[in-house]
Parts: sequence; structure tokens; C-alpha cells
Amino acid sequence: MLYEILSETFKDIVDKESSSQLWSGCGSVNRMHLDGVDVVVKFAQVPTQLTHRNIIQSDFALARKLKSYQVELAFYQQQTVQLNEVCKVPKLIHAIQRDHTTCLVLADFAPEGFNPKSELSIAHHHQVLNWLAKFHSYFVLRADIGWQEGGYWHLATRPDELQRMAHGELKTHAKCIAELIRDCPYRTQIHGDAKAANFAFSPELEVLGYDFQWLGSGLGIQDVMLYFTSVFDNDGLQTNADNLLEYYFSMLSDNLSATCSTQRTQDIVTSWRELWPVVWADFHRFLLGWKPDHFKINNYMREQSHNALKLVRG
Ligand SMILES: Nc1ncnc2c1ncn2[C@@H]1O[C@H](COP(=O)(O)OP(=O)(O)O)[C@@H](O)[C@H]1O
Ligand SMILES: [Mg+2]
Repeated sequence: MLYEILSETFKDIVDKESSSQLWSGCGSVNRMHLDGVDVVVKFAQVPTQLTHRNIIQSDFALARKLKSYQVELAFYQQQTVQLNEVCKVPKLIHAIQRDHTTCLVLADFAPEGFNPKSELSIAHHHQVLNWLAKFHSYFVLRADIGWQEGGYWHLATRPDELQRMAHGELKTHAKCIAELIRDCPYRTQIHGDAKAANFAFSPELEVLGYDFQWLGSGLGIQDVMLYFTSVFDNDGLQTNADNLLEYYFSMLSDNLSATCSTQRTQDIVTSWRELWPVVWADFHRFLLGWKPDHFKINNYMREQSHNALKLVRG
């Protein structure tokens, strides 16, 4: 199927190395040489049955997965040429969308010197936070891209997990917590899955972000929170979270000041800083419904949820 689709556009199709499977058998990521160009082809065909052990195979979950590939494709088609002037993302070479199938042909970033890294230092974290601050500042003035709410864990998209969740305050206050995030007037577009595995680094520590299936409206700190969960355990969070969050806010303020008034910049930072515990509580709620023994649930997260519940209880 992939080769049939590609041969409509490309004459010379060479496989470079074995492909990796996308999440739950939804397709593959293939390194290829198409008409002499190094590319990565993200081919997704959402099946009628998902095989993930933590997901109830509902039509709802399937529709969500299918839409996520379409959101990513639209993002590459409509946003990335301009965005690349601000923060680096892969270049789109070709895109095909048909019924349950999407095929994204992206320039391979490895020959350009970018590679994902598993060991990250504070210098890497600064660069990622810089990338996020630029991304969020750029999209502050641009609404209606991607999902109505970005991220894969927000409450409206997770009714199955909420139902499965054991009784507790994060469950009873789940709606209130979600509303505090949704009703915040200072919004942007968030990456929506800003874990470390979705960034690549050049030897000079330039950053490139990818994997935009969960892009949509949100608060920049939701990406920062998710990034932190992917690089720090409890000790790392206790040591680094405050400093790095302030670093993000200072980069955000610098970038916002180019397009927003000083007052508006301050309002964005103030309201997002207040909601820091709330975005943690919201992700904690998702984990408790999805996989209650998840390794990301630690004391830092519990403390943030505790603070968020204090806010919610009034
Ligand atoms: N443009 C690209 N150039 C090089 N490698 C890529 C590119 N896009 C994706 N990859 C590689 O393929 C992997 C999976 O792609 P990604 O878009 O993150 O899909 P998934 O939804 O499976 O995480 C990435 O972690 C990265 O290693
Ligand atoms: Mg990914």
C-alpha cells in the first residue's frame, strides 16, 4: 500500500533501513531515498481494532487516533514553512491523505546533523525550553490550528480513563481542574506530546521538534510539564523544576515582547505560573485512569496535585 501510494509521485523508491512500527500497529516510519532525496515516511493506516493493552478499543479511541494523523498532516502542510523561520521542524516534502490513510514524506533530519538523544544535560533542557518558548510565542496570535484542545491527556478526550479511575479527589474535581485550564484566556498552540523523544539535537545543541499529532490549543506550561515528566524523576524535579520553569518564563517573555504589550506578556506569565500545579494535576488524573502504577507518578506530581486541589476547593 505504501509503495503504491509513493509510486504515484516518486519514480525512484529505495528503502534505506528496516522501518519502525507506529503506535499500536497504526503504520510505520520508514527511512527512504525518494528520487535521490533522504526522507522519512510516516505512513499511518488506522485499523478497525487497536491493540494497545491500556486502551479500551472504542470507536472513540480509533477516531481520536485517526484524527491525530490528519492533524499532524495539516500542520505540516499549513504551518511549517513559516514556523521554520522561528523554531526548527522537519521540512515537508509531500503529503497524501485518503480515508483512513495518511502518508507524510518529511526530509530526514539525520543527514542535517540532528539526532534524538537519550542522555540530556541542563544545556539541552535550556535549548528545548527555548524552542518551546518560541513555538508558544509564535502561536499566541494564531488560533484554530490542530485540536480544539491540544495534548493527548485532557479530560474531554479521556472519558474511558476517567470512568476506570478509582474514587478520589482528583476524580471528583477532574472537571473543575480541566475547566481551569480550558477557561484560561491566555492560550496558544501547544505541541501536545513534547517529551524528550520528540526532539532532536545538532552537535551545536540546536533543537528540532517533531511528532505533531496532538498539536492544539492549550497553555505553554502543559508542554513544559510533559517535557519535565520525560526527563526527570522525583529528585530531578525537586532540584530543577523551579529553576527551569523560570528559565522558560524568561524566554517566553523575551519572545512575546516582540508581538505583545508588556501588560499582556505579564498577564500571560502570571496566569500560567498560577496554573502550574493545575496542569500537573490534570496529567496526574490521566495517569491514574490509564495506568495507576505509572512510573511518572511521584512525590513532585503528588505535591502539585495537592496544591491544585487547594486552589479548586477554594
Ligand atoms: N523527519 C525525520 N527525520 C529523521 N527521523 C525521523 C523523522 N521523523 C521521525 N523520525 C524518527 O522516527 C521516530 C518516530 O517518529 P514520530 O513522528 O515521533 O512518530 P511516533 O508517533 O511513532 O512517535 C522518531 O522518534 C524519530 O526517531
Ligand atoms: Mg514520537
